[in-house]
Amino acid sequence: MKEKLEELYKKFESQVALMKNQAEVLNLKAEYLGKKGALTETLKSLKQATVEEKKVIGPLANDIKDKVQKQVSQKLAEIEKKEINQKLEKSKIDISFRDSMKDKGHFHGGLHPVTIIQQEIEDIFISMGFDVLDGPHIEDEFHNFEALNIPSDHPARDMQDTFWFHDDKTPDGKRHLLRTHTSSIQVRGMTSRKPPFRFIAPGKAFRCERTDASHEMVFHQLEGMMVGKDISVSNLIYFMKTLLREIFKKEVEVRLRPGFFPFVEPGFELDMKCLICGGKGCSVCKQTGWVEVLPCGMIHPNVLKAGKIDPDEYNGFAFGLGLDRLVMMKYGIEDIRHLHSGDLRFVSQFRGF
Ligand code: PHE
Repeated sequence: MKEKLEELYKKFESQVALMKNQAEVLNLKAEYLGKKGALTETLKSLKQATVEEKKVIGPLANDIKDKVQKQVSQKLAEIEKKEINQKLEKSKIDISFRDSMKDKGHFHGGLHPVTIIQQEIEDIFISMGFDVLDGPHIEDEFHNFEALNIPSDHPARDMQDTFWFHDDKTPDGKRHLLRTHTSSIQVRGMTSRKPPFRFIAPGKAFRCERTDASHEMVFHQLEGMMVGKDISVSNLIYFMKTLLREIFKKEVEVRLRPGFFPFVEPGFELDMKCLICGGKGCSVCKQTGWVEVLPCGMIHPNVLKAGKIDPDEYNGFAFGLGLDRLVMMKYGIEDIRHLHSGDLRFVSQFRGF
């Protein structure tokens, strides 16, 4: 009897090890511990045993019964854990709204092409050690003009048709306006840091202009400044070429022409070879083969002074990148007015939708 019990247990052990799922384990349990189970039957037959036998076999049988119970529970827990892990492996749930909605045909927000380019350029400049600054859309005439070497009687003010505010002046009597360029951030950036430094300042600019395919009243610029000792025009060209190469992911040909801006001396217009026609001439480059992308120059000493920097000790360069034109070049957009149209057929063509 004793041997029979032990044999039974051994058999159970070898069987339970092979079980693969809950149902198999539960069947096996029934085979041993159920009403007609092997162990139950054996225990029933104890009735006929002698008192001596019962003394030995009784505890042994109970012990085996406990062990079988225990092993069954262990095996069930083991299988359950395995099944949960398998399920987790198989069903990775994407909790981000964007991807989970994609397949269901729902629209979800994406980035505007100007934002995409702006962020790309920010990353490029951050990797070259530039800070990224912000500035107010509503400016005073000191920051937008005077500090940039454009006093109120300067004809250069006519270059930028300005939206003026007619209400409050600043405490020092300056009028308010919607900034006409991001250059208004130059002095704010200079007075808040000590040279050497480099920063960019992207944002919207506003001009009271008649709109057409290449002009908008609201447009985007990205200002840049680098101030230090012995900075040269070749430093300027190097940074500009690096920037254009990174944006267009290929080497671009550039040329410098003299350009007039009161806050730089010398001032340049940096053109790049038209990528649409490869320099042969098309509507985007107005048949010239070159596209004007980057007004720039060496910072005028008066501007450095307005920024509380000694022009005898330091110099630097500044540039003002037109973001809209760059976006148009990169994506082959022929009319700037698409950018602010809010037309979903237009914006949904870009990344993120
Ligand atoms: N602020 C100028 C413009 O909007 C561009 C510029 C910036 C030119 C910096 C030179 C240096 O036209």
